[in-house]
Amino acid sequence: MCRIGFIGAGTTGTALAVRLSEKGYSVVAVSSRSLSSAQKLARLINNCRVCRTAQELADVADLIFITTPDDVIPRVCCEVEWHEGQGVVHCSGAHSIDILEPARHQGASVGSFHPLQTFASAEQATNNLIGSTFAVEAEAPLLPKLKELASSLEGEWIELKPEDKVLYHMAATFTSNYLVTLIKIALDLWQAFGIPPARASQALLPLLRGTVNNIASVGLPNCLTGSISRGDIGTIQEHLEILKTRCPEMLAVYKELGIHTIPVALAKGKIDENKARDLKFLFTT
Ligand SMILES: NC(=O)c1ccc[n+]([C@@H]2O[C@H](COP(=O)([O-])OP(=O)(O)OC[C@H]3O[C@@H](n4cnc5c(N)ncnc54)[C@H](OP(=O)(O)O)[C@@H]3O)[C@@H](O)[C@H]2O)c1
Repeated sequence: MCRIGFIGAGTTGTALAVRLSEKGYSVVAVSSRSLSSAQKLARLINNCRVCRTAQELADVADLIFITTPDDVIPRVCCEVEWHEGQGVVHCSGAHSIDILEPARHQGASVGSFHPLQTFASAEQATNNLIGSTFAVEAEAPLLPKLKELASSLEGEWIELKPEDKVLYHMAATFTSNYLVTLIKIALDLWQAFGIPPARASQALLPLLRGTVNNIASVGLPNCLTGSISRGDIGTIQEHLEILKTRCPEMLAVYKELGIHTIPVALAKGKIDENKARDLKFLFTT
């Protein structure tokens, strides 16, 4: 059986190690920058040894995941002596497998395996991982193995070309990270009329969940509701006036997002080209 090891015992490494082990894979070893992180991960898995160095780990595993921060992956890859028959995989969404060139040069198969998921902590990552989509990039014989791992984790896989990875990663940034930014903006607006973030967050969460449910059930463009979808020019003018006087720092982002919402409203069919032109005028002047 393939012996799996992890270099980097953070959120992603922990989630993958724990879940793959639960699915019957043999996770044999972990190493990390600090011994304590490696020990913490190893305690979660039966018969998983702690290695003091990445080299020690690479010497006892056949499939090695480098789950360090992106910027550290090339350095870790360079520091280890790899050999033929090994698979070396990183989990970065933006980088291609080229950053693992030193391992490929030494005869290892290289790949990337990116869980399209948000991991805020090891525990939450472990909970969220199952059922995620995984972006895979690898050459044979590693590619089918990575697809098999994605399926074992009850997820879909998508095979990406190296030149498409940055675009793919940016889409994840919009879907997850910038959603957080939008909620922060909404919380700031609530604070402008005196409601603290915790209370505002509690009030906005059902709206957020309803939106996500609508995206899942009716999809775009029909999930779009609100002033732009209805073409309520008067309401939007009021938004713009208030933003100018009370929250001018949010005016630019409001307008920019408005511009990108017009095509969705048009596609939904509740506004016509004339209304779309009027809306665009409001957002660009
Ligand atoms: N977080 C996400 O939402 C997410 C989602 C998908 C993919 N990813 C990808 O997963 C990878 C890891 O990200 P993460 O969020 O899991 O990072 P993380 O939680 O910060 O964990 C990174 C781990 O790498 C270890 N490390 C740092 N430098 C090291 C070195 N020189 N040698 C060995 N170990 C080292 C750290 O060690 P110590 O704890 O021992 O100090 C830490 O445990 C990245 O490629 C990222 O793009 C992340």
